[in-house]
Amino acid sequence: MTTIGIHDLALATAHHVVDLSELATDRGVDPGKYLTGLGQTSMSFPAPDEDIVTMGATAARTLLHRTGTDQVRWLLFATESGVDQSKSAAVYAHRLLDLPSHVRAVEFKQACYAGTAALQAALGIVARNPHDQVLVITSDVARYALNSSGEPTQGAGAVAMLVSANPGLLEIEPISGVATRDVDDFWRPNDASTAVVDGRLSVAAYIDSLMLAWDDYAARGGKPVDQIDRFVYHQPFTRMAVKAHLALARHTGMPGDTAAMGAGLEYNRLLGNSYTASLYAGLAALLDSDTTLAGQRIGLFSYGSGSVGEFFTGVVQPGYDRTWHHQATADALAARSPLSVSAYEKLHAVALPSDTDADTPHVTAGPYRFAGIENQARRYESTV
Ligand code: CAA
Repeated sequence: MTTIGIHDLALATAHHVVDLSELATDRGVDPGKYLTGLGQTSMSFPAPDEDIVTMGATAARTLLHRTGTDQVRWLLFATESGVDQSKSAAVYAHRLLDLPSHVRAVEFKQACYAGTAALQAALGIVARNPHDQVLVITSDVARYALNSSGEPTQGAGAVAMLVSANPGLLEIEPISGVATRDVDDFWRPNDASTAVVDGRLSVAAYIDSLMLAWDDYAARGGKPVDQIDRFVYHQPFTRMAVKAHLALARHTGMPGDTAAMGAGLEYNRLLGNSYTASLYAGLAALLDSDTTLAGQRIGLFSYGSGSVGEFFTGVVQPGYDRTWHHQATADALAARSPLSVSAYEKLHAVALPSDTDADTPHVTAGPYRFAGIENQARRYESTV
């Protein structure tokens, strides 16, 4: 039988980084709250010439250099931080990546869940046409108001995945558990560049969604919990994933410790929240750090406020070896340029560029940049 799943994946992040100990000190908060209480060490922050398109295209460029593009027929771009109300970020990325015109391009939205919706759609496309491959890009800039409780949970990152038949990395199994409920825990009105959030409600809604999704998964004939070897969760902040795992342990009777989470928190602790990319950055961290996972089943929980949650599983494929990615990602994270708190605040105050003509300064060291706005249209350019 043909297996379908994630053939390969690659991660990218933004040019700058903000140290959360420094932010805590500036905000008059004990750094332990951010470092231990939220489980975050730093957060990526984009340069003025970076956004979801440049980060997403950068992740996809790394991926496609390894896999090629011959069988790619779709580009599905998932994001909460879209740059236009009509034109999809996928079309901008399509041009930057020099994809052929026969590759369709479209954007998916449902807060942080949209990456999983795109992945599920990709699995269906490949099931119908097993020769086709689907490029899924998840990319987000998480922005909350300055001095708000959400501020230390900002971040930026992108993960690109190639979905294909006979995948090299992770076969996605067909049974999913889903929980969709109308909840006002986090949203972003059309005229706002930062999210509106009821933090406490959002934490409770995330946990409720996980329980509902798990129960649906179990009712649909999903694997017993003792046949799931590792767990990866959406990580708005890494302690949220720990809380989720412990709640699932209480709900299912699995061991009440975090051993099954492996090193899956490692990247997000440094990136911050990357909304649609967060779960898949967690998957990358897990796979990149452990060479013994072949044949093991990973449970994944995706949560998007508003809200949609989904629990599903994948089986790691024999022959996967991502140890060198670990160093490459560690190097990319270490190469970020630190921002002082005051420099970060200045950049934060520049909301999304206005619709007047404007050129952006060249800051990013990445292969693509947002060059500015001309006649109200966004201009992107390749720097390589
Ligand atoms: N040392 C160690 N720990 C400390 C501490 C210290 N000095 N001071 C406080 N803490 C601990 C607290 O005990 C608490 O831990 P527990 O939850 O385990 O008790 C933790 O630090 C956080 O403290 P508070 O709950 O008091 O923090 P807060 O209320 O100021 O902010 C938050 C927390 C509400 C989650 C806020 O960061 C926020 O609004 N974030 C954005 C929303 C979000 O991320 N929601 C997550 C679910 S929604 C989702 O997943 C979708 C998405 O991506 C947005």
